Amino acid sequence: MLHPAIDLKLVNPDIGYGVFATQDIPKGTIIWALDPLDQIIDQSKARTLRDPADTQLRRYSWVNGSGDRILCWDFGRFMNHCCEPNSIGPGKLEFEIAVRDIAAGEEVTCDYGTFNLEEPMTCACGSPHCRGRIVAEDFDRIAPALDQRVRAAFRDIQNVHQPLWPLVQKWRLQIERGIAQPSHLPSLLENRWPRVPVAAPARQRRANP
Ligand SMILES: C[S@@+](CC[C@H](N)C(=O)[O-])C[C@H]1O[C@@H](n2cnc3c(N)ncnc32)[C@H](O)[C@@H]1O
Ligand SMILES: [Zn+2]
Repeated sequence: MLHPAIDLKLVNPDIGYGVFATQDIPKGTIIWALDPLDQIIDQSKARTLRDPADTQLRRYSWVNGSGDRILCWDFGRFMNHCCEPNSIGPGKLEFEIAVRDIAAGEEVTCDYGTFNLEEPMTCACGSPHCRGRIVAEDFDRIAPALDQRVRAAFRDIQNVHQPLWPLVQKWRLQIERGIAQPSHLPSLLENRWPRVPVAAPARQRRANP
């Protein structure tokens, strides 16, 4: 569910609609959180879909760290990508926070590079740091910088009004830990799908066998 001070508006005919702040939203505010009305569509169900449902699902959902597709029931599904996003989530915790103050009238954006894209997207975000093409391979490269931005904003979570607070209660312990020690927040890399196998540590050679 999107923060209540965010609404749908047309960006332009190329990008289509996007979501915009209707009042100032301070850094640390929970912008979006998974809620019980959102659909979680597993891979076997997704494989059964035919057009037009298949195309709609691919456009309006993203793939989480378990390979499931998340389809928001509200305007959350219209959040556009920006190569300098103002909303980013920690890994695994199924919510996003404002990583800087967002002014009334500004578009609220996220980074699709960590959404396990199946198709590349040509980006028109207009940022001076625009990557041009957003591809699945961005994930490993961009996640550390996005993690840093979430961690830098995370302590503010306790200092700002949080209308979506009831939706993140299942993550209360992780949030408390993250406030005390932001470096302990799970990395976005935990959302990567398919999972990259962790290399087994090289066998230690015995000295003087
Ligand atoms: C989840 S939808 C977002 C809502 C979409 N703008 C609409 O009105 O349907 C994702 C689609 O929006 C467009 N989009 C989102 N961010 C974009 C960007 N930075 N540059 C170009 N197109 C973008 C792409 O067509 C993408 O496949
Ligand atoms: Zn861009």
